[in-house]
Amino acid sequence: MGTQESNEETSRTGRRALLGAAVLGAGGAVLGMTGTARADGARHGGGVKSLPKPTIVGHRGASGYRPEHTLGSYQLALDMGADIVEAGDLVPTKDGHLVCRHEPEIGGTTDVADHPEFADRKKTKLLDGVSTTGWFTEDFTLAELKTLRAIERIPANRPHNTLYNGRWEIPTFEEVLKWQDEQTRERGKQVWIYPELKHPTYFRKLGLPLEERVAKLLRKYRKDRRTSPVILQSFEPTSIERLNKLVDNPLVVLLSSAGTRPWDFVETGDPRTVADLIKPAGLREIASYAQGIGPTLDLIIPRDAKGNLTQPTTLVSDAHRVGLILHPWTLRNENPFLPANFRKGTDPDAYGDVFGAYQAYFATGIDGVFTDQPDTGLLAREDFLGH
Ligand code: G3P
Ligand code: CA
Repeated sequence: MGTQESNEETSRTGRRALLGAAVLGAGGAVLGMTGTARADGARHGGGVKSLPKPTIVGHRGASGYRPEHTLGSYQLALDMGADIVEAGDLVPTKDGHLVCRHEPEIGGTTDVADHPEFADRKKTKLLDGVSTTGWFTEDFTLAELKTLRAIERIPANRPHNTLYNGRWEIPTFEEVLKWQDEQTRERGKQVWIYPELKHPTYFRKLGLPLEERVAKLLRKYRKDRRTSPVILQSFEPTSIERLNKLVDNPLVVLLSSAGTRPWDFVETGDPRTVADLIKPAGLREIASYAQGIGPTLDLIIPRDAKGNLTQPTTLVSDAHRVGLILHPWTLRNENPFLPANFRKGTDPDAYGDVFGAYQAYFATGIDGVFTDQPDTGLLAREDFLGH
């Protein structure tokens, strides 16, 4: 899931300018902090309720400014002040390690195509029913993946980010868990992460189940508790149900557009679609094993045929009624990703009125939002809260 949106992004072309704050943010936010926060996972305070609201989640780090799912992107998200970093989208290697990539196919986010030694690994596979051609993490050992370097996924939209192509390797989830502790110590403030399990049914069928591996690492680093600073997410409800039996972390069910059907439902013959899951009965069921939902923004405020925002649905109040928080995705500064009535001009890659869009979404009562540009999200929150 999420792939359809990614394909749309890849097809868009153009240019955009960096926000000054994005580059100034690096390093500045850490100055003056003391290493007083505990970073051993043993005590984390008040859980998700302790997070600022609306919570700003750095989507794949600060992926508007750096190649996604790199330590450089994660680091910048923290430097900008993101409340949580989506570190990372998790997929396995052939030898069973969890690594941070948006998808198992890594042709668009690494330099693998430039490695002749891996030319024969290029394959066409059926990934959740979609024919996909490229290089797949499950066909590489971790040692092999570590010889690759990350590149910008949508260079046509984000040409400045190509400056950093080749700078960072693919992080493992274990490296992220250690990085989280280091950053917590250095900043004197608890760092939160929001990993997503990608294609759990696909990988379980390949003999590389994700949930047990995630749980094992969380236990190893003592981050498997209700108040641990790790929220887990997946588009497959049965994966979240499985996690609910393995760990006590806050859990979030991701929801794509209303007409779609989670892939685990397809595999198990459950006929329900997302439209069913967001009805009161569906939400009540989710609330029996999860603490939140992560809907696509269009489930919060649908767009009309021209792409303009219409009126909010009742999803926020319906979810809150059964005790679920909502962290929709994904707000991005660039015109092509904004509702039509918040675009500025016709340049497909210039920034639009993203601050206006934030106000419309925040006004619905959402608890937080994923964004590729956390600095923008934080300013929008200041606007919304009036300080
Ligand atoms: O996890 C929230 C959002 O990241 C879901 O979509 O495709 O970007 O992982 P995707
Ligand atoms: Ca994600």
